[in-house]
Amino acid sequence: MDKFVIKGGKRLSGKVEISGAKNAAVAILPAVLLADSPCIIDNVPDISDVNAIFTVLRQLGATVNKLNRTTYEIDPSGVRSYVVTKEMSQSMRASSYFLGALLGRMRRAKVAPPGGCDIGLRPIDQHIKGFEALGARVTIEGGLVDARAEKLGGCSVYLDVVSVGATINIMLAAARARGMTVIENAAREPHVVDLANFLNSMGADIMGAGTSVIKIRGVEHLKGTEYSIIPDQIEAGTYMVAAAATKGDVTICNVTPKHLESIIAKLKETGVTVEEGDDWVRVVMKKRPGKCNIKTMPHPGFPTDMQPQFATLLAISNGTSIVTEGVWDNRFRYADQLTFMGADIQVDGKSAVITGVEKLKAAAVKSNDLRAGAAMIIAGLIAEGVTEIEDIEYIDRGYEQVVEKFTQLGANIKRVPVLDAPTIKIAN
Ligand code: EPZ
Repeated sequence: MDKFVIKGGKRLSGKVEISGAKNAAVAILPAVLLADSPCIIDNVPDISDVNAIFTVLRQLGATVNKLNRTTYEIDPSGVRSYVVTKEMSQSMRASSYFLGALLGRMRRAKVAPPGGCDIGLRPIDQHIKGFEALGARVTIEGGLVDARAEKLGGCSVYLDVVSVGATINIMLAAARARGMTVIENAAREPHVVDLANFLNSMGADIMGAGTSVIKIRGVEHLKGTEYSIIPDQIEAGTYMVAAAATKGDVTICNVTPKHLESIIAKLKETGVTVEEGDDWVRVVMKKRPGKCNIKTMPHPGFPTDMQPQFATLLAISNGTSIVTEGVWDNRFRYADQLTFMGADIQVDGKSAVITGVEKLKAAAVKSNDLRAGAAMIIAGLIAEGVTEIEDIEYIDRGYEQVVEKFTQLGANIKRVPVLDAPTIKIAN
């Protein structure tokens, strides 16, 4: 077990390279199972959720060869199994995509219910609704979600709630179904579009990804392809907010500015200067941020996965802001940790009223989940003194080389073993 130790007060400056998108990678890698021949995937982030996917692919019978730091060749032709146990999936959220991919490949799948960050109920009723509309029979047996179909036929599915996971899973199962499938009220996130582009590069026939109506004309076979995953919009947004919070000057490279529109707009509202290039954005902040209200929504709204990080910026703003969580039931668990550091956050259900304070104070805090952990890093960077963050395995699920990248920007951050005795010593 490790923890992060951060000595706050340093302004971030310089350049940081963004890695491949976690939420695209965890969809595209299982999708390789739909191909009849090997795929080469580039810009794969080295994070624990991706490594867990590779473990499952190998245990299913695929071969996974690392060609270089970010490129892998995956050959699914040896896959015979359709079972993904809880031990195999390591209770990550994205294990559910093996349901759609294996159902699409073998008309059979038995997958442990997905785990993932504890940010509220994580149901998969909309996924199952889509599979059943395609002609599959889905039951829960022995703690596994069991899906089977003699054949999969095109259908029309209206999602009762905009769901990234359900949109992706239904697309996976429908890609090789017979006939046309229409998903209405579909998610529009960049990683949904990236998966559709990947499947189309394998010979699928998918139209409308990025809009709320996606049409999938099933094809009999999908062939291996070479594909590069999009940059991670949430990793990029996290470094943008960290730059602003430390009154820094940081250029975030290898991004798709179009995916960052809502984050850029809200940063500008607080007084941050953002310059946009073709594949970079530069964030400059010279003063205390102003307040602004945030309401998280499905894309193209403000991303829920940026909510904890942005709330940390607002915690030191010169005003009172209201943050409303429009996607998850329980995504303010980090607020208690920020309060230990002197923040003034009043949470009431799906809303938080944040009254900015001049300074945060270092403390020993926990990383409640992936994005809450990222928020703790930002808080540690701006707090006076030495902050320690435990449970950082959550952060390693979604942020590649996070210590190296922040260190390169001038942060004083170390990854150290968690010793038995508490070791918090606040530097005077
Ligand atoms: C994906 O989770 C992301 N994870 C989450 O990112 C992200 O917060 C979320 O989409 C929203 O953008 C991955 O892509 C691996 P949903 P997912 O299905 O697919 C309800 C991160 O930090 N719902 O869009 O699980 C659900 O309860 C992670 O990278 C149903 O009711 O999210 C939620 O309220 C955290 N029934 C809402 O829909 C269903 O069948 C959105 O969930 C499915 C979802």
